[in-house]
Amino acid sequence: MTGSSQDKAPLLEVSGLSVDYGLKGVSSRAIDSVSFALRAGEAVGLVGESGSGKTTTAMAIAGLLSPNARVSGGQVCYRGNRLPIEDDAAMRPHRWSETSVVFQGAMNALNPVHRIIKQIAEPCMLKLGMPRGEATARAGELLELVGIPADRGAAYPHELSGGMRQRVMIAMALACRPSIIIGDEPTTALDVITQAQILKLLGELRSQLNLALILITHDLSVVAESCDRVMIMYAGRIVEDGTVAEIFAKPKHPYTRLLIDSIPNPANGKKMIRPIPGDPPNLVNRPSGCAFHPRCPSAMGLCATDVPSFDKFGRSRVACHLHRSSQEDKVAAHA
Ligand SMILES: Nc1ncnc2c1ncn2[C@@H]1O[C@H](COP(=O)(O)OP(=O)(O)OP(=O)(O)O)[C@@H](O)[C@H]1O
Ligand code: SF4
Ligand SMILES: [Mg+2]
Repeated sequence: MTGSSQDKAPLLEVSGLSVDYGLKGVSSRAIDSVSFALRAGEAVGLVGESGSGKTTTAMAIAGLLSPNARVSGGQVCYRGNRLPIEDDAAMRPHRWSETSVVFQGAMNALNPVHRIIKQIAEPCMLKLGMPRGEATARAGELLELVGIPADRGAAYPHELSGGMRQRVMIAMALACRPSIIIGDEPTTALDVITQAQILKLLGELRSQLNLALILITHDLSVVAESCDRVMIMYAGRIVEDGTVAEIFAKPKHPYTRLLIDSIPNPANGKKMIRPIPGDPPNLVNRPSGCAFHPRCPSAMGLCATDVPSFDKFGRSRVACHLHRSSQEDKVAAHA
């Protein structure tokens, strides 16, 4: 690819990506034909119920899929070049240098027997080839960048609060100067105030370093505050994708509407999260047609048989038979 066409390519382009897991001889499709693009500096929220495929999407992009996963279709391109996401060794130069992941439980991800400064310096030595002294100095700078005084680098993970540990994870994620950070529920285990501080930090780093951010969460209100765009996932597929302003003001997909309705809103007296009725789909035996049809209040005959494809509406897209230009014809044909 030439330099100029590379410049025009999105930072990340995921096209038709499908991943299957094999477990006890049974294969299930965790993500199915996932496609989206991410531009430099953009923050996109990836939202959906438990099991909808958010983490699998993140792990596939970062080349961190578990050994029982198989990429059954599609590709991931970084700056226009296809990534070898299934080849652990070939992904090594890309991982953490282009895309870094901040996981949910910092305590599990950090090594309890090493001081945090050492854990941040290590990727600088291994990936950037820095000598130990330089890497330690950079680790100190990274700690300061995430709001921890460099002299706290001598601490062990258990000597820090949950919020500080999550900051250390962010410092580690930044060590090799990636362009993309994927936060997989990075604030879920934290109290509300610490959660707000970490999200603020991610927002500040994003503008300071022109980072692109994929923020995975169950919580649409987190996305509303932190992201430009939101992608809604259901049963391994993206079902709606648009700007935060569009999706919150005019959600089109019935699942998105129910997700937004489920958010507590003290202004109108809604104090509790209202769960979406029905059970999440079984991916081994996924519902035919639109996977949401057994739970959808607007389902029609067509929904049980035909998989809805995307239609574009301005800057958003939605996969739902209610929002197809040819919808009336199809409903008539199935009547
Ligand atoms: N290693 C694995 N082996 C087998 N199945 C898996 C594996 N990891 C995930 N799955 C299955 O793949 C589907 C998608 O899981 P994934 O972890 O991507 O969902 P998620 O949206 O991140 O959920 P959560 O919100 O609970 O983190 C689920 O049905 C899950 O059970
Ligand atoms: S395609 Fe049908 S079942 Fe699926 S969300 Fe739209 S109306 Fe509901
Ligand atoms: Mg997950």
